[in-house]
Amino acid sequence: MPHRGGIRHMIRTFKDPEAVSRAAADLFVELADEAVAARGRFRVALSGGRTPLRTYQLLAEAPRRERTPWPRIEVFWGDERCVPLDDDRSNAGTATRTLLTRVPVMSGSVHPMRCSADPNAGAADYETLLRGLFETVPVLDLIFLGLGRDGHTASLFPYTSVLSEEARWAAVVHPEGQGPSRVTLTPPVINAARVVAFVVIGREKAAILRSVLQDPPEPRRLPAQLIRPHGGRLIWLTDEAAAAELGKR
Ligand code: 6PG
Repeated sequence: MPHRGGIRHMIRTFKDPEAVSRAAADLFVELADEAVAARGRFRVALSGGRTPLRTYQLLAEAPRRERTPWPRIEVFWGDERCVPLDDDRSNAGTATRTLLTRVPVMSGSVHPMRCSADPNAGAADYETLLRGLFETVPVLDLIFLGLGRDGHTASLFPYTSVLSEEARWAAVVHPEGQGPSRVTLTPPVINAARVVAFVVIGREKAAILRSVLQDPPEPRRLPAQLIRPHGGRLIWLTDEAAAAELGKR
């Protein structure tokens, strides 16, 4: 596996978006089986945006639906846009409509970030939820992440104060010109995960993916470079289009 600044990570590149989505869905099922066998439950944080939609659809249908231990799965989010759940921009709303209403996950095990009425209160509520579930920094079994064209991931946007957050586990972010306020898991939580999997699809992501993976460390400009799971694995799942500039100067 290639090293980036001492962190071991794996880049798996697939022919097209469908193949990447299948690989992400298969990783979810594989890690869920492993976690349930080892610890009796699987704790996962879903990502937002458009990229994961196909993965969610694949998880909601045969054969993966039947092969996944849904009643033992606890669902979190990496971040949320502070809009109502029925808003198309809602990450939890989207995952609920495309996946969670179609599988036998326990409703009490699904933890959306509710922040549409009051983003600050939403972040504080999520922090309280996490502190009630975890005695020390949350160690999730899998955190899915996307990559924005500006190098953000979750809602860790360039040059925002959340990038240097070390104490809180959830924080509110007001990204310049990027729509509604957000709530995001902070770098300490993401980097505590057993597995972090970026899913990056499309030619429009090729330049930023190359920058994140090959430019010298500049995490305030390229927040995705902050993601370095201490004891975990970092996996990049990409299609050929998004990987097109890797290796170029
Ligand atoms: C969000 C996401 C964000 C997303 C990237 C990529 O709420 O916007 O969590 O980090 O993963 O912006 O978004 P696309 O998949 O839509 O390109």
